[in-house]
Amino acid sequence: MKAKILQALREAGDYVSGQQLSEQFCVSRTAVWKVIGQLREAGYEIDSVPNRGYRIKSAPDVLNEAELSSLRRTAWIGSRLECFEVIGSTNTTAMQMAEEGAPHGTLVVADRQDNGKGRRGRGWVLPAGVAIAMSIVLKPENLHPGNASMLTLVSALAVVRGLREQTGIEAQIKWPNDIVIGGKKVCGILTEMSTQIDYINHIVVGIGINVHNDRFPSELAERATSLFLVSGKHYGRAALTEAVCEAFEHYYAIFLRTEDLSALMEEYGSYLANIGRAVRVLDPKAEFEGVARGISERGELLVETETGLRKVDSGEVSVRGIYGYV
Ligand code: BTN
Repeated sequence: MKAKILQALREAGDYVSGQQLSEQFCVSRTAVWKVIGQLREAGYEIDSVPNRGYRIKSAPDVLNEAELSSLRRTAWIGSRLECFEVIGSTNTTAMQMAEEGAPHGTLVVADRQDNGKGRRGRGWVLPAGVAIAMSIVLKPENLHPGNASMLTLVSALAVVRGLREQTGIEAQIKWPNDIVIGGKKVCGILTEMSTQIDYINHIVVGIGINVHNDRFPSELAERATSLFLVSGKHYGRAALTEAVCEAFEHYYAIFLRTEDLSALMEEYGSYLANIGRAVRVLDPKAEFEGVARGISERGELLVETETGLRKVDSGEVSVRGIYGYV
C-alpha cells in the first residue's frame, strides 16, 4: 500500500484527496492516513491541506521496496524485488536466488554491501547510504552461452543511458564495461553465469554505482569518482536504479534479436572513452600498443596497430590508456 500511495502522489504531482486515495485503493480513509503517517516517519515530506489532501514534497534517498516500486517503469526487471539494508554481495545472493528458482528479472538491491565482488577477484565494498549495489537475474530461454559475455557491454550501455537520462552527466565507457566520468571510474559491472555445456541456467548482472561518496581512500582516489564528486549534486539512488533497469530492458531486447552487438556497436562506440586514443593491450602472450577505433559486433575492441587492425577479446586481456587511467 505504501508503494501504491507514493506512486499516486508522485504521478499527480499535486494534492490528492484522502477520499480519492481511499477509493482508488479500496481502503478506508483511516488506512490512507496511517500510511501517510508511516511515510512521514520514513522521511517523506508530505504536505496536507484541508479539503485538498496530500502532496509529496520530497523523498528520502532510500533503496527500499516502497520507494523502488513506486518509481517502477520497467516491464520485467523488478517483477520480483529483494531489498536489503546490509548484504554480503548482491551478486552472490542473486545467484543463490536464481539457483533456487527466482524468476527472470528478479532485482536484488542493497544499501550497504560488506563482501561485494569486483572483477578479477577484487572486492567491492560499499558503505551504507552512498552507493547503489544492484544485481539483475536473467534467465534467457534461447541465448547461446558463447554469446552471453556480450551482456556485460549491453549493461554498460544501460548504465550510461540511465545516468545521462537522470543526471545529464555524460558518462563514458572504458572498454569493456567500466563507466567513467572525467577519466575516473564511477561504476563497475560484474556479470556471472551458471551454465551447462550448451544451456544457460542463469546470468546475474551486478552493477555498483558510486553516488554520494565525497571522498575515496587514498589508494582509489586517483581512479575513482562519484556522481556527487563530479557534479556537486546528490541524485536519488532509487530513481537512478530504475533508469538503469529501464535502459537495460531496452538494450537487452535489441541484443537478443541478433545475439550480438551489431545494432548497438555504433552507439557503444559513441560512448567509448578509449576511442581514437592510444591504448596498451596487456595480452599475456604479447603486449602491444595501438589506437582504439571502436568495437566489433561481438564486442571485441578494435585496435589499429602498425601491422593492421587487431580485435581484442575482453576475456583474455586488459587494456590501459597510455596516459592515465582511461
Ligand atoms: C568491477 O570490478 O569493476 C566490477 C564491480 C561490480 C560491483 C557490483 S556492486 C553490485 C554487485 N554485487 C557484487 O558483489 N558486485 C557487483
